Amino acid sequence: MQSDRSPSNSPDAIPGRAIPRRAVLAGGGAGALLAAAGLPARAEPRGFRLRVAPATAQLVPAPHPATAVWAFNGSVPGPEIRVRQGERLRIAVENALAEATTVHWHGMRVPNAMDGVPDLTQRPIGPGETFVYEFDALDAGTFWYHPHQRGSEQVDRGLSGALIVEEAEPPAVDRDVTWVLDDWRLLADASISPDFDNMHDAAMMGRIGNSVTVNGVVPESFAVRAGERIRLRLINAANARIFGLEFEGHAPRIVAIDGQPVEPHAPAGGRVVLGPAMRADLVIDMTGAPGARFRVIDSFYQRGAYRLLELAYGDAPLRERVPEAELRLPPNPLAEPDVAAAERHSVAFAGGGMAGMMGGGMMGRGPMGGMMGGMMGRGMQHAGIWTINGVAATGHVMAPMLTLAEGRSHVLAMTNDSAFHHPIHLHGHSFRVLSRNGVPTRRREWQDTVLMNPRERVDIALVADNPGDWMFHCHILEHQAAGMMGVIRVAPGTTRT
Ligand code: C2O
Ligand code: CU
Repeated sequence: MQSDRSPSNSPDAIPGRAIPRRAVLAGGGAGALLAAAGLPARAEPRGFRLRVAPATAQLVPAPHPATAVWAFNGSVPGPEIRVRQGERLRIAVENALAEATTVHWHGMRVPNAMDGVPDLTQRPIGPGETFVYEFDALDAGTFWYHPHQRGSEQVDRGLSGALIVEEAEPPAVDRDVTWVLDDWRLLADASISPDFDNMHDAAMMGRIGNSVTVNGVVPESFAVRAGERIRLRLINAANARIFGLEFEGHAPRIVAIDGQPVEPHAPAGGRVVLGPAMRADLVIDMTGAPGARFRVIDSFYQRGAYRLLELAYGDAPLRERVPEAELRLPPNPLAEPDVAAAERHSVAFAGGGMAGMMGGGMMGRGPMGGMMGGMMGRGMQHAGIWTINGVAATGHVMAPMLTLAEGRSHVLAMTNDSAFHHPIHLHGHSFRVLSRNGVPTRRREWQDTVLMNPRERVDIALVADNPGDWMFHCHILEHQAAGMMGVIRVAPGTTRT
């Protein structure tokens, strides 16, 4: 199975990959010692290097010039890191930027000290410094990585990459393809618009760009063959854009969301909706005829539908018919929350440009109007535009908004008291999405980021089984920077609110 990325884009793996896994596990050294001690044997960690530095990338095709970006190993997106479930990763991150950074492994259930949150879980990686992350790939699935330091600018400038954990027995498909979706606000000379402190973005929908890329290029077409079955891993790496993808003439099945398997199903309304940071694994059977072309359309924003690219069928079919069997993924080892016995907590998200903008608490309930005009200027202090339970964060270090008793089940009853969408992300855990506006969800999806519609109520449930201080925030990175972020602590003992 091959990902659809060029070899020059592959991470700098330390040799040793070629040794069959079972040979490693059964072999000498640490494995044998562990086995003799009655402990599960463990292979050596897989080694990777990521160098964070300025680079250039041809995002828009010539004659447009290349764009100055910030990149992992010189490529946008960064190299796809691919491991097998159960493997241990050791990733050395070298910072060659002129400012501090960190890397967060979005959706991976890592130990707290490896979570990449500046000042909260680690000292930021200063210019010229290297930090080594090490953690196990507990869950198979589609994950990604990005900085958590000044994320709204660092991620937007190009710092993101796919982290794929293959199942122990990967399901049979003809191709396993990753599309990292991103959008960019480019000026006429293809440079990135430097208005990262744009107050309008912070208070409204976030920084929506004007150029959408798939794996770092504004795409034209994607070559497919009749009869082919593709596993398409979609990753929304955009700061703020929500995607709603329609595959004309095709019937994709969603088999995983945010890396976690889900009962295979057709997307609601034929559209795969992905908020920022969300992922979906699709199985798409190429049922078109040789030579045919079909559009993939992003129609999330009603007035802004556009053609993302075209599926372009080659002249030679791969096989006469597409495979018939439904592809199902094996579940990951997640602890099942006991909803009946769970402790319940209320969480309210509020603020934004259309609901009153000033003050600390009770945002979103204030009078309309008045403030916007004066606050639209650039370079203003953005903190305090958005709140969680009445508190606007000003950095990553803060008193926990919730302390969850470790090992217990918890329900977060979340309310979006604003006029905007918010993709809400919890670190260190996956949660089940139980209900929307009081109506139980059909599939109780496991997610790590849940897109809340304006004014929507969403209940989620989890077992708090990963101790530490975890970020809980909106993944529209301008909202996060403007206050929509909190800390949830998981600790032994009793729950405190
Ligand atoms: Cu994708 Cu707090 O992160
Ligand atoms: Cu938000």
